[in-house]
Amino acid sequence: MWAELAPIGRHPASGGYRRYAWTGADADCRTWFQEQAEARGLTYETDRNGNQWAWLGDPLGEDAVVTGSHLDSVPDGGAFDGPLGVVSSFAALDELRHRGVEFRRPVAITNFGDEEGARFGLACVGSRLTAGQLTKEAAYELRDGDGVSLPQAMEAAGYDPDSIGPDPERLARIGAFVELHVEQGRALDLTGDPVGIASAIWPHGRWRYDFHGEANHAGTTRLADRRDPMLTYAETVLAARREAQLAGAVATFGKIAVEPNGVNAIPSLVRGWLDSRAADQATLDTVVAGIEAAAHEAAARQGVDLTVVRESFTPVVEFEHALRDELGKILGGQVPVLGTGAGHDAGILSASIPTAMLFVRNPTGVSHSPAEYAAEDDCVAGVRALADVLEGLACR
Ligand code: GLV
Ligand code: MN
Ligand code: MN
Ligand code: MN
Repeated sequence: MWAELAPIGRHPASGGYRRYAWTGADADCRTWFQEQAEARGLTYETDRNGNQWAWLGDPLGEDAVVTGSHLDSVPDGGAFDGPLGVVSSFAALDELRHRGVEFRRPVAITNFGDEEGARFGLACVGSRLTAGQLTKEAAYELRDGDGVSLPQAMEAAGYDPDSIGPDPERLARIGAFVELHVEQGRALDLTGDPVGIASAIWPHGRWRYDFHGEANHAGTTRLADRRDPMLTYAETVLAARREAQLAGAVATFGKIAVEPNGVNAIPSLVRGWLDSRAADQATLDTVVAGIEAAAHEAAARQGVDLTVVRESFTPVVEFEHALRDELGKILGGQVPVLGTGAGHDAGILSASIPTAMLFVRNPTGVSHSPAEYAAEDDCVAGVRALADVLEGLACR
């Protein structure tokens, strides 16, 4: 099953994955998911927001146990972030059938659409819509780098965007959601455990910085006469590093757009996206305010106009203690409990339903990169842990 998914959306030069929402690679991943569901005799459906579901038992039954993750990727992402959770879900179901257990609750496997937000800038679009944390109106405003709107992209992929919106009835029928995910740090490597349980997700957000300067000739414009937004941007990147370091937080400018983007022209515009995260809201507020203040100070000094827009924000998530403790009991109580700075659909859904996460060891901690890795034995341990959890929740 892994081998069929592996080539989809893989960029031959970088070796990384480019599986962006509602593109051809995404469609191929979705076809793969549907085929996996049908090959197991599961009831397949796509919900009003384009998320995929594969049901064992009645899709309209109460108190369902749901597991899954996402199949989309960041630009040149790794093989595991997302797919490991989906593949492990199917494998765990196979394992439970092999064990011959009797299911007392409906079980479903999901693929949530557009988790990474690589195309439209907002992460977890599918789960946010379903949980009512993103309105249809706001979703209709989302546009990719080419100006294609989310509804246009959905329509081009053969989905009806008219139906998107909150799905409280669906969520009300779910008793627990468990997402397995490759760890995106080295906590499990340090404790020496193949599998861990999530405690919390750091609050995090994305901010767009537009630095407007004046385009001019790179050879003839005296340094003193320039209004160079690249310079202001560079100072802002350094400020982000400084503020994050002071606070024990993280801040990243990982994406920029430059106009006119010519080697021999001072830019008229530099647009940079800040991603910042911290263990608590107050720290994050301090870091973000510090970066913005430094950027405004530099902009004023350099004759650059700056606007800052918050594009998205996800508050701190503390996973439900009862479910988390239950997972600990099922897995034997020796499993480490760890927090993470990475966002997940589980974090979004935790506002509506009891939610938990399992992490699988990542020996280097590298993620959102083609170098992302988990050892086969650890993946197998993850499947076994997920099967134990599903058995504990759905079969007893
Ligand atoms: C998604 O993986 C994120 O945490 O940005
Ligand atoms: Mn990710
Ligand atoms: Mn992920
Ligand atoms: Mn994520």
